[in-house]
Amino acid sequence: MSGNKHTNNFTPGMRIVKPIPFKAHKVKTMSAEMIETHFETFYGGGVCRLNEIEERIATRDWIENSDPDIQSIKQAELTALNDVILHEIYFECLGDESEEGRELNADCNFAHAITASFGSLDQWQMEFKALAGTMTGGSGWVLLVWSKYDNRMINVMVNNQQSLLLDASSILALDMYAHAYQSDFGSDIDAYISAFVQAIHWGRVAKRFDRLMTLIADDDRENFPPKSISVGDLKKMVDEGEGSTVILDVRHVDDRQRYRTRIMQTPWRDSHHVSSWSDELPKDKPIVVYCMYGFWVSQDVALELREKGYDARTLEGGIVSWRAMGYDSTDIEN
Ligand SMILES: [Fe+2]
Repeated sequence: MSGNKHTNNFTPGMRIVKPIPFKAHKVKTMSAEMIETHFETFYGGGVCRLNEIEERIATRDWIENSDPDIQSIKQAELTALNDVILHEIYFECLGDESEEGRELNADCNFAHAITASFGSLDQWQMEFKALAGTMTGGSGWVLLVWSKYDNRMINVMVNNQQSLLLDASSILALDMYAHAYQSDFGSDIDAYISAFVQAIHWGRVAKRFDRLMTLIADDDRENFPPKSISVGDLKKMVDEGEGSTVILDVRHVDDRQRYRTRIMQTPWRDSHHVSSWSDELPKDKPIVVYCMYGFWVSQDVALELREKGYDARTLEGGIVSWRAMGYDSTDIEN
């Protein structure tokens, strides 16, 4: 493992969303609209809320300010942190039909641990679904966790107002709050639970398990090209100098038809015909191209622009991550 585990560059109030690792419109069992709203409004809103709370704590005057409010602030911090962590596991657990590695490899560490803990994957699934099926009120989480004490996996129910789980590492998380399913499934939670289980990306779950067991290094960024920028860094660049960065929407036409919002007032360019418009770009400014989630559409355009000598980057997580942070966006009229 490289790097020092005890150093991090955490700054209170500066968290940004972790991009969705799959294409929401290619998930067969849930709608892209529901997944995107969940991601932007509830997960993104949670990240922003946590930022505010952390900033409040960080800038608090501990000597002057002796009000007893600290308990409620710390409780709010814990709730918001749990909310963010569990949503990230939830989205990490899911995958779309076009992805490779969704099947569970029967010979991986995770599969062996499941068998040792539950007898079989089917046994696990029966218990997990039955547990989730009792959460009719539409609130809380069902988690598959690893207990270091028992050296085994266990299914648990929690809500994020609870204290942090002691001695548990969450491997898989199912969001049973109504906002996660109501728009697609109404009150039919069984249909939602099945849709979730069918959409699980076992390859990523198994990798997460390996990471938790520290069997592999925590380096999941090999899929990101070096020339990319986070939504937080792009926001900073925009705030620091207007016009210093060229930002272009290069989404496919059908994505743009379906999702009628863009970052600020950014113009659209055709990703299929980069040569027809690239000459108009400046060579002395960074260029950021974005698509829906930051996958191949914008990565291919950035690569082509870089080959032409431009300082082009993709936006990690695409417009969906930008919007999840509540940054400036405008509707597309025509
Ligand atoms: Fe949620």
